[in-house]
Amino acid sequence: MTAPFPAPPVPVVIRPELPADADPIHRLTERAFEGRTFSSGTEAGIVRALRKSGALTLSLVAEHGGSVVGHVAFSPVRVSGTGGAWFGLGPISVDPDLQRRGIGRRLVTRGLDHLRRAGAAGCALIGDPAVYSRYGFVSGGLTYAGVHPDLVQYVAFGSAVPRGTLLFGSAFDG
Ligand SMILES: CC(C)(COP(=O)(O)OP(=O)(O)OC[C@H]1O[C@@H](n2cnc3c(N)ncnc32)[C@H](O)[C@@H]1OP(=O)(O)O)[C@@H](O)C(=O)NCCC(=O)NCCS
Repeated sequence: MTAPFPAPPVPVVIRPELPADADPIHRLTERAFEGRTFSSGTEAGIVRALRKSGALTLSLVAEHGGSVVGHVAFSPVRVSGTGGAWFGLGPISVDPDLQRRGIGRRLVTRGLDHLRRAGAAGCALIGDPAVYSRYGFVSGGLTYAGVHPDLVQYVAFGSAVPRGTLLFGSAFDG
């Protein structure tokens, strides 16, 4: 039976990752993407590879009851023909038992605020427009090999409108 009311938001503390968070983040990412049709099965490894290569520019966790229940990674990306510092959002994961209760929103908005304040030109991602349009992401103008253009989205912090191919770092190659 469908619940009559949406589940209440889960109170979380959003903070940068600490060294001890690496394994919990790995397990969380595996759980969040497990069985998803769009999952490549490589998302947890991508987070590790980003960290190892020094490309994990911003890694935020959501902590609840002493556990890591959410995580988002931001790393440098390039947009051909466009200047400025662009960052890619993802992977992002929320504990399957706590999804649709506001944790993803807290992670995304905190991360975008941080990038904006740090002087980034914008943020891009591959994802579901139904989810990310809520944060101001738009599609059109950016392409990514083999992906429908509607799923290639960005939010620009200034007036620059990115046009061209979105290129993620080598951590995403595997
Ligand atoms: C995607 C994910 C990170 C969202 O986290 P979450 O905590 O469940 O999201 P929130 O509850 O904060 O919801 C944020 C907004 O997105 C919307 N949303 C979340 N999941 C959605 C979905 N599957 N379809 C449509 N909208 C969705 C919510 O309605 C909410 O909008 P609102 O605040 O305007 O009501 C989480 O569902 C997850 O880990 N999924 C598995 C891994 C994954 O898909 N990662 C992203 C790959 S691109």
